[in-house]
Amino acid sequence: MIRMLKGAWEWIEDRTGIAEVVREPMTHPVPRSAKWWYVFGSCTLMFFMIQVVTGICLALVYAPSAATAYDSLLYLNYDVPMGWMLRAIHGWSSNAMVFMMLVHMVQVFLHGAYKYPREMTWIFGVALLLTTLGLAFTGQVMRWDADAYWGVGIGASMMGRFPVIGGWLTHLVLGGPIIGGDTLSRFFTLHVFVLPGIAIALIGGHLMMVLKQGISEDPKPGTPGAFVDKATYKAEYKERIRRKGIPFFPVAAQRDMVFCGVMLITLIIVAAWYGPIGPGPRPDPTLIDVTPRPDFPFLWIFAVLALLTPAVEDYLIITAAPILLLALFMVPFLGGTGARSPSSRPIAVLVVILLISGVGVLSMLGVTSPWSPHMQAWTSDAVPPSFVRSRSPLELQGAIVLQHSQCRNCHALDGIGGARGPDLSDVALRLTPDQLVRQVQQGGGNMPAFGKNLSSSETRAVVAFLDTCHPPGARPANRPGARLEALRELDAKRAGN
Ligand code: HEC
Repeated sequence: MIRMLKGAWEWIEDRTGIAEVVREPMTHPVPRSAKWWYVFGSCTLMFFMIQVVTGICLALVYAPSAATAYDSLLYLNYDVPMGWMLRAIHGWSSNAMVFMMLVHMVQVFLHGAYKYPREMTWIFGVALLLTTLGLAFTGQVMRWDADAYWGVGIGASMMGRFPVIGGWLTHLVLGGPIIGGDTLSRFFTLHVFVLPGIAIALIGGHLMMVLKQGISEDPKPGTPGAFVDKATYKAEYKERIRRKGIPFFPVAAQRDMVFCGVMLITLIIVAAWYGPIGPGPRPDPTLIDVTPRPDFPFLWIFAVLALLTPAVEDYLIITAAPILLLALFMVPFLGGTGARSPSSRPIAVLVVILLISGVGVLSMLGVTSPWSPHMQAWTSDAVPPSFVRSRSPLELQGAIVLQHSQCRNCHALDGIGGARGPDLSDVALRLTPDQLVRQVQQGGGNMPAFGKNLSSSETRAVVAFLDTCHPPGARPANRPGARLEALRELDAKRAGN
């Protein structure tokens, strides 16, 4: 039996030379000083491979259509033997992969391992980070629960802010004007075909660069390799590795294997203990009293959006994201040579401390900050008396509907209430009753549609009430041209105060 296997192996080796091909990269020499700091990259790779394997298994059962996705997850959770464990491992390993990748990046940054001649290794790495975040985001959508639904909604509304191409981009991603079955199909395609393909190609490039340029030495000040001089570094590094390097496999790889083993066991314990992530409540576009939360890599973005005033939100989304990305890609060009040790690079250390504490605090706020800045509005803030004085019964009824439909979570009256949407105190100046009906029923912008949540008489009442929300005397948005006139009047009055 063994003889037969050996014979078969020799046959394959003779035809393909595969052992020779594999031996070279596996046993390539690495610096002796590359010790426990150097295990995070291979651990990230391990989590990625776990994702591929568990992902393929999940895709056998998962039904990527809006009508069935949620139920197929429940089926996995409760009916398929060990299906829950498969989901748990996939979910936790996804978080672990993002986390490990960030640790790896911080280590590389602090040790100046991105400096000459390893700039391309860093650039491949940043591209991998983005692809992984893309996988995490699209993966969260696969759950197709309330969080996923609102996550897509928020993502789409962020994309919609981009000038000129915003609308087109949103349409492209959602597969239509609204979040629906086509949206899920697109995200599924991205999650299982496009992004994993890109990730595998990038990992190939990243590893090729690692082999080509070698991994950096421990940058202890005073040791060789701790200072990068473009003229001499490459040749000296080659020489040192040739003389003093140790083979990656089996010597240096032992540490990677120990660390990966510990992490794998931790992952299995965490997955078994905490179980699968979600799915949360069923997605329901008309249910707006949910508190959607994105997965942890996006919590800090969520917090920024929840805490910002809408006025600066647009500018921030359009400018901050590209600037941040550019900065990440530019790191090796901003300090591509010189000292590598963190003790000689106080600014680099400061940047890491600021980034970690900033993102950490924002992530914590992301857990606690309400989805609109003023969640108690509908229970605690009454409609100001001036808005109900001498109103008709229908209009008063509308004020009650406004109070009970969580409108005040997002909307203020006279400055009291949520700040997610516009203050409604003088909304009648801006919109006709028809437009009010449309806005309430169909939502739009960042506002959920209330069409299925409010009966037609409730809608009529709330619109009747909103139509009274204007400065005394003005009876504007109904007559052509009157709107401008009234706004001017209002401005004049405000200027007079
Ligand atoms: C989740 C937050 C949220 C909730 C809840 C909400 N809205 Fe809105 N609303 C918004 C946002 C954001 C806008 C701005 C939309 C845009 O930019 O197109 C808006 C716009 C409006 C407008 C148009 C205002 C204008 O000046 O153009 C009206 C009217 C309105 N909402 C009424 C309501 C009513 C009535 C309710 C309750 C039934 C409600 N909203 C609940 C977020 C919300």
